[in-house]
Amino acid sequence: MPTLHWNGKHLSPPQPVSLTLDSVVHPKGRGYPKSRPDGRLILGDNLPVMSALLPAYEGRINLIYADPPFFTNRKFSARVGRGEDSRKPSKWKLAEGYHDSWADMDSYLQFLYERLHLMHRLLAPNGTLYLHLDWHADAQARLILDELFGAENFINEIIWAYHGPSPIRTAFNRKHDTILMYAKSREYTFNVDDIREPYNPNTVATFKASRKAGFGKIPDLERGKVPEDWWYFPVVARLHNERTGYPTQKPAAMMERIILASSNKNDLVADFFCGSGTTALTAAKLGRKFITCDESTRAVNTARARLAGVKSVFTVERDVAAQTGVATKSKKVRLKISGDLVQLKTSLDVDFWEVDPAWDGKIFRSAAQAQRHVRSGDIPMELKIKIGGRVCIRLVTVEGKQFQISK
Ligand SMILES: C[S@@+](CC[C@H](N)C(=O)[O-])C[C@H]1O[C@@H](n2cnc3c(N)ncnc32)[C@H](O)[C@@H]1O
Repeated sequence: MPTLHWNGKHLSPPQPVSLTLDSVVHPKGRGYPKSRPDGRLILGDNLPVMSALLPAYEGRINLIYADPPFFTNRKFSARVGRGEDSRKPSKWKLAEGYHDSWADMDSYLQFLYERLHLMHRLLAPNGTLYLHLDWHADAQARLILDELFGAENFINEIIWAYHGPSPIRTAFNRKHDTILMYAKSREYTFNVDDIREPYNPNTVATFKASRKAGFGKIPDLERGKVPEDWWYFPVVARLHNERTGYPTQKPAAMMERIILASSNKNDLVADFFCGSGTTALTAAKLGRKFITCDESTRAVNTARARLAGVKSVFTVERDVAAQTGVATKSKKVRLKISGDLVQLKTSLDVDFWEVDPAWDGKIFRSAAQAQRHVRSGDIPMELKIKIGGRVCIRLVTVEGKQFQISK
């Protein structure tokens, strides 16, 4: 088999980070305070994070979706806020999203190689990896995956096609991404009946008119067809109601197809480049457990807020040595507690806030959460919750500033 080489190609021994539990989130108070978490959201570089997971999870993850930077050599900005989509692009407020900037192709390939190697180790024997890239590096990644997984374990090259504006006038508009799907072994999970879709109405009409159409092959019009390896899902554009403002957010409908096809209920689904948390959110909605990670605080806060809208209890963890960036004092944030009502008084532009009604001074247990409405941008400034001791709140502003205030 041909293999790909680059300057500095190597696999380092695992260098695990030491993870600490930052908080436990009980969406809308579910299972508070005792339920065991179904998910883990981790802030940190995924290489040492995956190394730290190896002892407990090697060979145990059923599905990994990876949506890394694509080698575009661009900096992607996040949009500030959610409810301001009616403003003109020139008036958008922007904040740091993530960088996709590299010294050269060698350093990018090395970055991918070491991480894909750990993902391969973490996958269960029936597990599947989906690697999402585009024309910038999909050819190189295909060879790397052939080397790590074995070319015989290549399953699909999926084309995700979409529409959108483009400044290109010297070539066809580049409007597809490539998702490479590899299995750990030939015994991989593929739930074909969970992802069937209706046949095209023309096909249905043709076969209803004549059973002889199709040269003897009669489609099961009731059951539907197995989707092709090219998919159309609209991008999460400006007016999409899933939109978080986090750059390059992927559509939940696409993640749903991947998760339904390649995992079962209660399986473990992972995404170590989680961004806005689309994979974990969809996995939780479909009854899967999840582990997800990102090195960006904005990404983890965005995912945290989204996950607070579903039913899975989850932990938020981080590198014990990392700076939290959370302010514990602010003249701009005041709390008023009356009976079971916690009121937030602030002049800050709040994106998300949550309450621990019995703060032990160590682990924040979030039992009530409030977030901005997608369209209007409104956010409730009071939360009803049974108070059991000292009250602590956490809040994140639309600019990404974080506060933790107790009373
Ligand atoms: C293409 S975005 C993922 C978007 C995501 N699929 C979604 O739906 O929102 C890539 C993400 O990878 C993260 N990232 C890049 N390098 C990383 C690393 N070494 N460890 C963890 N996360 C990383 C970036 O911060 C960014 O959020």
